[in-house]
Amino acid sequence: MSKPYKFFSHETFERNIGWLIIATIMVVSIAGLVQIVPLFFQHSTTQPSPGIVPFPALSLAGRDIYQREGCVGCHSQQIRTLRSETERYGPYSLAGESVYDHPFLWGSKRTGPDLARVGGRYSDEWHRIHFRNPRDVVPESNMPAYPYLQHAAANAGSIQAHMKALRRLGVPYTDEAIENAPKELEGKTEEDALIAYMQGLGIHRRSTNTAVVSTSTADAAK
Ligand code: HEC
Repeated sequence: MSKPYKFFSHETFERNIGWLIIATIMVVSIAGLVQIVPLFFQHSTTQPSPGIVPFPALSLAGRDIYQREGCVGCHSQQIRTLRSETERYGPYSLAGESVYDHPFLWGSKRTGPDLARVGGRYSDEWHRIHFRNPRDVVPESNMPAYPYLQHAAANAGSIQAHMKALRRLGVPYTDEAIENAPKELEGKTEEDALIAYMQGLGIHRRSTNTAVVSTSTADAAK
């Protein structure tokens, strides 16, 4: 004969799979909430990092093309806190750098290199040649060619609606910026837009590099 046991005891869970499942779900969800909820209230994840501004109209149009062409399937935009990464790509990514990214394009696959800090690494002309045929500059490249981008006009028709939608999500576009957006796209091709997007990626961190390094050393010293 087994001993009688109290309801609030280990036996309750060991003998009733239903209670075990309920208790497991409770523990896992509390642990999840404790990890996730504070992130919604931390300035480091909700406020833009120093130097971060909304994408200018042409870059924003380029970002659309980046999404349309599926570049995110081969390129990440997130540098991890590993030495091998920071030496190759530059300072690691911070959450505050992505506050204006809707949707974010961090990616999860690197067939090609990370692009989080590609801005200014090459000339516009290099990008042009590379997009038209990557093999012309990197003979062993397996990146697809995008020669048609040079012939398509950047989409000025939807840019204002796009910026207004982003403003609703909290991206601080001014009326003036929205007003002037179609003008900025006038006469530009999709290739121009994509290059503008590339050249803006990560450039704000150049000037704040030393600040970031010194805070992390200070953290380590604590
Ligand atoms: C099939 C995978 C693949 C896709 C899709 C792809 N790339 Fe690449 N990309 C690569 C590879 C591999 C390299 C490295 C060789 C080279 O430079 O071509 C690369 C290199 C690059 C570089 C140079 C980065 C550096 O630091 O040297 C840029 C910029 C770039 N890609 C942008 C893009 C853009 C923009 C798109 C979408 C229009 C795109 N890629 C789509 C695979 C891809």
